[in-house]
Amino acid sequence: MSKTNDTTRAIFTTRIGAVATAVGSAVGLGNIWRFPFEAGSHGGGAFMACYLVFIIALGIPVICAEFILGRHTRSNEPRAFRTLAPGTPWHLVGYIGILASILILSFYSVVAGWTLEYLTASFSMFTNDMDTADYHTRFGQFISGNWRPVIWTVTFLAINFLILLRGVQKGIERLSNILMPVMFLLLVIFCVNSLLMPKASEGLYFLFHPDFSQITPSVLLGAMGQAFFSLSIGLGCMMTYGSYFSPRTNLLRCASVTAILDTGVAILAGIIIFPAVFSFGISPESGPTLVFEVFPTIFSQLHGGMFWSILFFFLLFLASLTSTISMSEISITYFMEEYRLSRLRATMLTIGIATMLGLLCALSFGPLRHFTVCGMTIFNLFDYLSSNILLPLGGMLISIFAGWIIDKHIISTQLSESPASHPSRWIRPVIFCLRYVAPVGIALIFMNSIGII
Ligand code: TRP
Repeated sequence: MSKTNDTTRAIFTTRIGAVATAVGSAVGLGNIWRFPFEAGSHGGGAFMACYLVFIIALGIPVICAEFILGRHTRSNEPRAFRTLAPGTPWHLVGYIGILASILILSFYSVVAGWTLEYLTASFSMFTNDMDTADYHTRFGQFISGNWRPVIWTVTFLAINFLILLRGVQKGIERLSNILMPVMFLLLVIFCVNSLLMPKASEGLYFLFHPDFSQITPSVLLGAMGQAFFSLSIGLGCMMTYGSYFSPRTNLLRCASVTAILDTGVAILAGIIIFPAVFSFGISPESGPTLVFEVFPTIFSQLHGGMFWSILFFFLLFLASLTSTISMSEISITYFMEEYRLSRLRATMLTIGIATMLGLLCALSFGPLRHFTVCGMTIFNLFDYLSSNILLPLGGMLISIFAGWIIDKHIISTQLSESPASHPSRWIRPVIFCLRYVAPVGIALIFMNSIGII
């Protein structure tokens, strides 16, 4: 990154820098933990088909909209709306983002805490002959306990806090960008291993064979929520990144590359998990704990299980960290700008709120498991509210704003290859998606899920 004269904001000078940071935010637990369990509990192939359609028809246009608004205004979400539509309630969309980012940060940190538990447990877990049932019991005892899930959640948030406070996010992001290809390679190796399992074909059939009769309102809503969650869109994260992009960055290409890599990682995770699920006789509908039961069982059957386990959970921890850093920034910047708080106080406030809510999430697999709202534990409620409701709602408003409210000229200038060149032939389809496909599609899925259509 370097400073430019026309703006005090640092700017990514290379395309790789821009893409790598967007991918760093997008790739995380959403791909490796959330995608397999959501697909597993929503019928596999039917979910997958909807998810892919939503990535293309809703995801890529909304990433573009966030990049466009961010780079054009060179500011974060609430300020971008204030600059482009002063005196209107549009800046309220920013508040949806802040609420969603804090909710996500709290349950995400619980799962990131599980990766830390496994990272440390890897040293002792693979010494004796444990089988699938033992890993299931072990994990069950761990998450239903009173202390360990809480301690790991707090530890993860504390690490996050220190990184945010010392302003070393960029260093962590760079480290993660260097190590992400290693993660990718590791996933490919595990993929090959899973494909050699006895019931691999059953797993692949489950994931890739769409049974369209299984597409229910909850599958549609779940797949849409997963697309938004996985791409980090709907709450202004990508807008903040867009505000750092150089004028030469090709936004559409950057959005597409981010979506392709992110989806690629999710599909790899699916190819690893489902053959194993069927071969080990685990239920694909196990919910949020699915992946954490399957991976240790896979490692226990590999030569050098401890090595693979440590490497995998460390990389997963790092991938989670780059995602939570990007989420925390949203509310930290907001508290700093809106309430004129110092960075220290804004960070303390954000992490403090996330810690309190995170504790409730961590305990909702144990002491608080009977405390439910609309049939959901606190953990599931936070996940459902943010991913399935707030992110698509934010995305819908962002696409309406970009498609209908701001000057069309802004979109075509921002989407052109370079300021002087001819507009790309993709501009019209993107504008069409922003104006019609995304708002109408999201609204229909919402209405469908509450039973109006
Ligand atoms: N996309 C990330 C993941 O897959 C999570 C994430 C980071 C996120 N920033 C976000 C989700 C902003 C929604 C909005 O793990």
